[in-house]
Amino acid sequence: MYSEKVMDHFTNPRNVGEIENPSGVGTVGNAKCGDIMRIYLDIDDKGIINDCKFKTFGCGAAVATSSMATELVKGKNIEEALKVTNKAVMDALDGLPPVKVHCSLLAEEAIHAALWDYATKNNIKIEGLEKPK
Ligand code: FES
Ligand code: FES
Repeated sequence: MYSEKVMDHFTNPRNVGEIENPSGVGTVGNAKCGDIMRIYLDIDDKGIINDCKFKTFGCGAAVATSSMATELVKGKNIEEALKVTNKAVMDALDGLPPVKVHCSLLAEEAIHAALWDYATKNNIKIEGLEKPK
């Protein structure tokens, strides 16, 4: 049912934890199942995401997508991080079963919420980023 990459990121998730004094933090919930994901970003003064950590209270697919999403945004600038969509994360994991697609939305939403928090704190506008719901 799950790809090898999903199983790998579920059993050995990368970047689990918190960042002290993060540049931005985003917490989102999944309306469908009630699961929660939080993403922390450390962004330097050149706008590069130096570090990214997550905490997920959710299913295996949510853990695996959080893990992969943190790997994908690390080292990227904000514009590139916005391209880390749920589809990009799913592709990087070699797909998810259809019933688990909603789980992958959490990672994209949490990254966007963390970027929104960063933009708000620094009083900047990020092109193409919408206010989280
Ligand atoms: Fe979210 Fe089962 S419904 S983990
Ligand atoms: Fe809730 Fe996967 S079942 S995030």
